[in-house]
Amino acid sequence: MSERIAVFGTGYLGATHAAGMAELGHEVIGVDIDPDKIARLSRGEVPFYEPHLPELLRKHVDSGRLRFTTDVETAAEFADVFFIGVGTPQVSGGYAADVSQVESVIETLGPLLTRPAVILGKSTVPVGTAERLAQRVRDVAPAGSDVDLGWNPEFLREGFAVKDTLQPDRLVLGVDRARPGRIEEVARRVYAAMLERDTPFLVTDYATSELVKVSANAFLATKISFINAIAEVCEATGADVRDLADAIGHDERIGRKFLGAGLGFGGGCLPKDIRAFQARANELGVDQALAFLREVDGVNLRRREHAVTLAERLVGGLDGVRIAVLGAAFKPDSDDIRDSPALDVAGTLHLRGAEVVVHDPEANENAAKIWPTLNYVDDPLEACRKAELVIVATEWKQFRALNPSDLKSIVATPRVIDGRNCLPSQEWIDAGWEYRGMGRLAG
Ligand code: UGA
Repeated sequence: MSERIAVFGTGYLGATHAAGMAELGHEVIGVDIDPDKIARLSRGEVPFYEPHLPELLRKHVDSGRLRFTTDVETAAEFADVFFIGVGTPQVSGGYAADVSQVESVIETLGPLLTRPAVILGKSTVPVGTAERLAQRVRDVAPAGSDVDLGWNPEFLREGFAVKDTLQPDRLVLGVDRARPGRIEEVARRVYAAMLERDTPFLVTDYATSELVKVSANAFLATKISFINAIAEVCEATGADVRDLADAIGHDERIGRKFLGAGLGFGGGCLPKDIRAFQARANELGVDQALAFLREVDGVNLRRREHAVTLAERLVGGLDGVRIAVLGAAFKPDSDDIRDSPALDVAGTLHLRGAEVVVHDPEANENAAKIWPTLNYVDDPLEACRKAELVIVATEWKQFRALNPSDLKSIVATPRVIDGRNCLPSQEWIDAGWEYRGMGRLAG
């Protein structure tokens, strides 16, 4: 059965969710305060890089099942189910999450809800937020207690957003324990197509649903920092962290995924989520329970510094040295440069005197907004021309496929730091390159 759905927020999460809901057969309206974004989305253009999303968006803008507006009244009039997918970035000057965008949706939408409605929050919020918002929306909505709120965290990865939205590992729904019925019933109708395919559906209370999301990201961050801490030990002993990760990863209890040692994690989620989780634990008086996350963050940030120090050591002083940094996005198949280890390394090298040339297949434009003083080029070979050091900082497949022999004839000195341990190292060494990985080969 087709539902009438509004999705608030049209970033990576909201825009993908809106298109995904249209694909499931619903009638959807996406809402954002940014008129430029809405104009582009209405024309079927995705304002950021996300594989397969442009096709899905266009398909449903054309089918008429998906439209966009800046007008909250239009959305309130149209929909019965309201998703919240706005950002919850780190507050400036602190660790906590800034939930003002989520609150603002409740404050603007709530007073316009004159008939029964279900709001499903997808944004990552500090535990306790859903309960507070459920109360608030009933206070401000003319429909009062006919407005229900559930928390339905999102687990999509950038670069795989469409697949993760349409074929999620699991669906989680936090409901008001005092009145669970309608929220679950509506969520089951919205996700009917997925539930028919036996997607696990876990219904729980608000607090658990909020904690599931931050715990998942904290676990992933911890796994990455674990292997990066081991990488530090490998560097001190001549051991190879990639072989080590392969070996421990064969144990099913450990698993090989997210044991990629390198420059560490970045992006708009993992770094800010582990910090917000600690801030919330502080408020709850259980700061000791999450004290290890400070170390997880510390190990992660040390990898960036390590790459810069290694670069300095290899070229013997950074002043005026030409360095090619391949990659600016926080991971491949994304143009997102939020808290990007790649861009952080490029910027730090530049501040320490190096002449840095950056190439990213998709993120040059976003990177230039934050670091306008770096040089950006459209071609990886152009970036490497006359470089005394090449740093692969994001593992785009284009970089993994570079021919080390061809590249050698372009650079000033064939020296490479494989910041993501993604290159076929032996081929580079055989082609005459001085190769340094992260946590391997005397890296
Ligand atoms: C992450 C989670 O994986 C999603 O499940 C979650 O929904 C999302 O945050 C969110 O909270 O919205 P995402 O930020 O898109 O997704 O990226 P990841 O694929 O998790 O990668 C995060 C960072 O870890 C990247 O910088 C990546 O390069 C790094 N990473 C990943 C490693 O350094 N090593 C690895 O082995 C894996």
